[in-house]
Amino acid sequence: MKIFKTRDYNDMSRTAANIVSAQVILFPKSVLGLATGDTPIGMYNQLAKKCDQGDVDFCAIKTVNLDEYVGLAREHEQSYYYFMWTHLFNKINIKRENVFLPNGQANDLEKECSDYEAIIERMGGIDLQVLGIGCNGHIGFNEPSSAFTKNTHVVNLTESTISANSRFFDKKEDVPKRAVSMGIGTIMQARRILLLCSGKQKSEILYQSLYADIDPIIPASILQLHPNVTVVADQDALSAIV
Ligand code: GLP
Repeated sequence: MKIFKTRDYNDMSRTAANIVSAQVILFPKSVLGLATGDTPIGMYNQLAKKCDQGDVDFCAIKTVNLDEYVGLAREHEQSYYYFMWTHLFNKINIKRENVFLPNGQANDLEKECSDYEAIIERMGGIDLQVLGIGCNGHIGFNEPSSAFTKNTHVVNLTESTISANSRFFDKKEDVPKRAVSMGIGTIMQARRILLLCSGKQKSEILYQSLYADIDPIIPASILQLHPNVTVVADQDALSAIV
């Protein structure tokens, strides 16, 4: 595991964007696994800038997103579909047909989950998976549990995640209670993982994820078993470690 310690959020975002850019430049047909949340927004801004300057070309890149809320329309401002188009896809030269997110409005969610796994498999798997981390250690929407979930599945969000994400909604009751998320197995099959983390409020969970026992109660702790993880975190997030 490589850990890059950065000064602050901006520095984290630039470093992460450089790593993603290197992947795209060296392997222009890569499959990128993408994440939502506040953490990767700065990195997406940097990537958009690099694309605009002609330094990075996304025309042959494919993307798969980690997760999506159940029941939100794509046009809903808090859907992850809307998030990704707003923060990245509308700003880069990616092809619409190369972008994939789970459909949280599918009538048959079980089928949606198995179809999503099949899409990833058909693409040949994920070359580089970007991850943030929830305050309870979730990755994607894989919540603390007694077992690691393997494939894309429907998740009942925990109270702590609903509270954490209520900052994006008018009121807490508006936060969807369920989501479709890649499983831990799906994430672990990615050839490379890039974990981003910023801020003091994440320092304890980052420490536990990287150094405590591997336990599904801290879903991100499974990353210790992945052969190619790069952590890019600012000094606040790393303050419990170094
Ligand atoms: C959300 C997403 C995760 C994200 C996490 C942290 O619930 N499903 O993919 O990593 O929360 O979000 P933030 O970066 O805003 O702290």
